[in-house]
Order: sequence, then structure tokens, then C-alpha cells
Amino acid sequence: MKAMVMEALGVENLRLKELPDPKPGPGQVLVRLRAASLNFRDVLALRGGYGSRQKTAGLIPLSDGAGEVIEVGAGVRRFKAGDRVVNTFFPGWLAGPPDERFLQQDLGGMEDGVACELRVFSEEAVLPIPKAMSFLEAATLPCAAVTAWNAVRAHGDIGPENAVLTQGSGGVAIFALQFARAAGARVITISSAMQKLEKLQALGAQHGINYRDDAEWGKTARKMTGGQGVDLVVETAGAETLKQSIRATRMGGMIAMIGMVSGTSAELNLPLVAMGSLRIHGIAVGNRQHLQQVLAACDTSKIAPVIDHVVPLADLAEAVRYVESGKQFGKVCVEIA
Ligand SMILES: NC(=O)c1ccc[n+]([C@@H]2O[C@H](COP(=O)([O-])OP(=O)(O)OC[C@H]3O[C@@H](n4cnc5c(N)ncnc54)[C@H](OP(=O)(O)O)[C@@H]3O)[C@@H](O)[C@H]2O)c1
Repeated sequence: MKAMVMEALGVENLRLKELPDPKPGPGQVLVRLRAASLNFRDVLALRGGYGSRQKTAGLIPLSDGAGEVIEVGAGVRRFKAGDRVVNTFFPGWLAGPPDERFLQQDLGGMEDGVACELRVFSEEAVLPIPKAMSFLEAATLPCAAVTAWNAVRAHGDIGPENAVLTQGSGGVAIFALQFARAAGARVITISSAMQKLEKLQALGAQHGINYRDDAEWGKTARKMTGGQGVDLVVETAGAETLKQSIRATRMGGMIAMIGMVSGTSAELNLPLVAMGSLRIHGIAVGNRQHLQQVLAACDTSKIAPVIDHVVPLADLAEAVRYVESGKQFGKVCVEIA
């Protein structure tokens, strides 16, 4: 089989290689991967950004894939050859609260990922894809959509009476916008560009703020809620945004701490957090149950993942550089022949 392998740290060290075909063991399924998607974490993993928590030389990158089961190992009950499946981000985390044991195994980081033609998964680590969903669409879900779901629905418990603020137009932010709108919530979004804001509003955001033009966007967002503040901020930018996110959040509201595209260290105004009774809640992707809920929600609410563009596996390095540039609107995907 063909696989994209990171021979040493750095996107320039990605090589398309021929590797032996894997065979499924007991309880495992062999999947012919048809599609994968990139996340900002892949940019970080290719730089060695997860330190000792990741495999470096020889890593097959990417965590999110979809394909067709072509063989099953002994004792497999849940799947048969021909089934269309999508993988979970943490293969061992099936349900319940996060647990260090499960969070130490992730694809495209600690373990080899899905930038390859064939991969073996435990039958517990894949889920069926709804009929109406393509392999490319399904491959956008395991990291970005599950994270957004965990923030907006599982922990944010967002409904029609709530207001949510999303940041930028990357994978997590757009899914958060879609899930919040599907729940009937009002969405305020911030972005670097007018053109992107127009597209975010076309997806349902009621208000858009250009954070490059409005440094005090937290106050502006608060005004947009009649001075009360939003119930939930889906924090994907990190260092440069946290201060304004705190300004934007209502008393007793929640900041779902997810990402750090603008940096990993931020100053925290402690009295504002304490007196505002704010909850800053860390989110670590999510479990298989969350992916199951995402698949059902996309199917029943007709939520179509937003795909910026699709590249062949051979062009993965170019796709990683594009995601690093921040130009994307939604997900960048890989088609695997
Ligand atoms: N904790 C978790 O479980 C988890 C899971 C998934 C992702 N993450 C993290 O979440 C972050 C987003 O991931 P992703 O895959 O969705 O990223 P992505 O698709 O690469 O999107 C990044 C977007 O962030 C926006 N952005 C950049 N700088 C910004 C700033 N200063 N203020 C506001 N927005 C800014 C840009 O949109 P505009 O041009 O529209 O501003 C950019 O397109 C990453 O840090 C990732 O590592 C964490």
C-alpha cells in the first residue's frame, strides 16, 4: 500500500512510500481509506509540537479518515466487508469522561494515522457512515466536528435561548457555528476578513466582527447581546483572543478552551474570571459517543461539512502548508485513491 510517511520532523520530510499491506487481527477491521482531512493539530504534529506525547520519525500523519471495510478479523461482530466507516480520534475512548489512559493514544500523533491506503482499526474504533454522507464529508468529523459538538452541545448545553461566539473560519469554528445554529442559538462570529465574515453569515451567523479592525471585539460582541454577554465562547485562537473572550462572556457563562492558533500562553485577568463566575472549560476532542451524536445530527439536521478544497495524497505537504497559512474556509481534505 501507499502511505505518506514523515521520515523526520518537518513537513519537508513527508514522503509517499510503499509499505506492506496490513492484515486485521482478532477484533480488527481492515479499511481501504478513501478520504482524510487535515486539522491544525497536523501542522503542530509535523513540527514535533506534541513533544514526548507523539511519534516523530516514521509517523503516518492525519487523525481523521473514512473508507470501506475490506476484511474483518476473527471475532468481529459489528462490521462486514463493504461497510462504510469513519474512525474515532481516540481509539480507546468510547464514552464517559476523559481518562488519561485513552487520551494517550491518538491517530497521527502517538500512533500512525490515516494518510495511507490501508489501515487496521479495532472494530470499536470505527462507526458506520450514514448513507447520504460522502467519504470526504465523513472524514471531516472525527477531530473538528467532535470537538465542536463537545463544546457546544455536550458541555455548553446550548439551546434556542443562548448566544454563542465562534472564532475564525477553521474546521472547529465552522462546525461550532453549524451545531449552535442547528440548536437554535444566536451566533456571533469573528474573522480576519470581510469576505470570510460574509460566508460565515451565509452559514447562519447573525453577527460578524472583523477582529483585525476591531481590537475591542469582546465589548462589541457584548453590546450585540444587549449588554449581557454570550453564554458560550468557542475559544480556538487562544493567546490573542482570551482577554476579549472574557469581555464577551456573560456572568456565569462558559469559555470552551479548545485551541491556540494565535499562541499558547495568555495573561488571565483573575478578578474578571472570579467576579464574572466564568467557567473556563478545557475540551479534549471527544469520545466515540460524541462522534455517534455528530453523525446523527449531521444526518437528521442536514448539516453539510464545509470543505475548502480537496488534494490527492501525494500533495499532502502542500495542504499542510495551506492550513498553516490560515487561508482556509472550513476543512482541507485528502482524496485517497
Ligand atoms: N482541544 C482540542 O480538543 C482541539 C481539537 C481540535 C482543534 N484544536 C485546536 O483548535 C484550534 C483550531 O483548530 P482547527 O483545526 O479548527 O484550525 P484551522 O482549521 O487551521 O483554523 C484556523 C483559523 O483560526 C482563525 N484565526 C487565526 N488567528 C486568529 C486570531 N488571532 N483570532 C481569531 N481567529 C484566528 C483563522 O480564521 P479567520 O481567517 O477567519 O480569522 C484560521 O483560518 C487549533 O489550535 C487546534 O490545535 C483543539
